[in-house]
Amino acid sequence: MKILGIETSCDETAASVVEVAPDKSHVKILSSVTATSLALHAKTGGIIPEVAARNQIQDIIPVIYEALSSADGVWPMANSKKDHKLLAISNKPAIDAIAITYGPGLIGSLLVGVETAKTLSYIWNIPLLPINHLFGHIYANWIETLSPFQSLEFPAIGLIVSGGHTDLLLMKSHTDITWLGGTRDDAAGEAFDKIGRMLGLSYPAGPAIENLAKKGNPKAFHFPRPLMYDKELDFSFSGLKTAVLREIQKIEKSEGNNFFAGDSSELRTQEKIVTKRNALIADICRGVQDAISDVLVYKTLQAVEKYNARSVIVGGGVAANETLKNNFQHMLDTKYKILNTKLFVPPKSLCTDNGVMIAAAALFQGKETPWEKITANSELYFD
Ligand code: KG4
Ligand code: ZN
Repeated sequence: MKILGIETSCDETAASVVEVAPDKSHVKILSSVTATSLALHAKTGGIIPEVAARNQIQDIIPVIYEALSSADGVWPMANSKKDHKLLAISNKPAIDAIAITYGPGLIGSLLVGVETAKTLSYIWNIPLLPINHLFGHIYANWIETLSPFQSLEFPAIGLIVSGGHTDLLLMKSHTDITWLGGTRDDAAGEAFDKIGRMLGLSYPAGPAIENLAKKGNPKAFHFPRPLMYDKELDFSFSGLKTAVLREIQKIEKSEGNNFFAGDSSELRTQEKIVTKRNALIADICRGVQDAISDVLVYKTLQAVEKYNARSVIVGGGVAANETLKNNFQHMLDTKYKILNTKLFVPPKSLCTDNGVMIAAAALFQGKETPWEKITANSELYFD
């Protein structure tokens, strides 16, 4: 069985063809194509929904074309001329289902993917499976390249950490899933991005903060870990953002306004000042990353202990952070060793939005739905 997964909930336009393993335990990736308008958003310091959707309208057909034609044996009639007219009624690809993200996300972006998927499902008469994007991040772990995928056992605690979400789930099985808690304000990725912006880093700032933190002194700044010791399994990151802002304001009081924001004044280009500024930025990045990682790891493992979970499944853009992954593993190997819980984090390329995760989620969460009944839902959450 082969599934085409399509994802357009934010700024990415992604499509992938996966093959379901004979025992239906995971999927094998046959193709994965992603186009992003990130470079445009880096200039504006965040995503402008209309710009994202306009780009997705241009990208959606070429991306689907590429995903179908580069998957072995799926679309023999495709040719190297990239003739998009081949997405025609008479040229049905050898896929058994189309999985489409129908929410949550930016409404304009979701509509591009949903309406395209509905059209293809209609003209080719291929079943359509609407997928919750948040489950997609969890199911990015059910792929063959992740070893040892066979030992992904329930009950599991799922942590979704992305630019828009920070959620904890209890998964007793693929069908028995309970939401345990989520962020009360900013998502973890949003905190990385907003703090990065204060430091003059371009959007999205998560990867840059991770990089700069490597050179940072872990003792230079100790930022708050909001709600870390709270009994509830909720998160809050806006206080951390405010604490960083206060530090920045303190530094700028002595070093001058816009010390971090980056302008071209003569003073700023002096080597000594630049060195000092870069060292401070690295220290702040280290402090921020440690605070976010501590909260995510502590709260997740609190849930693991409470529900005696066999697996921890992490997904979403922030899961690409190596320090977070290493801290999880370290705690599972030491303080929580007795639980013998296994950690699952997707390969970096599957942490951020992609089509593979939507196709993989369809294997376990996909319900065939008539195209007339599928509508993009920007507010979709967990039932
Ligand atoms: O899952 P994703 O691609 O999009 C959403 O569904 O939101 O996540 C994007 C988020 C951004 O906030 C980005 O800064 C963050 O993931 N991110 C990271 C890293 N790579 C991406 N955060 C921390 N460390 C990283 N290496
Ligand atoms: Zn996402």
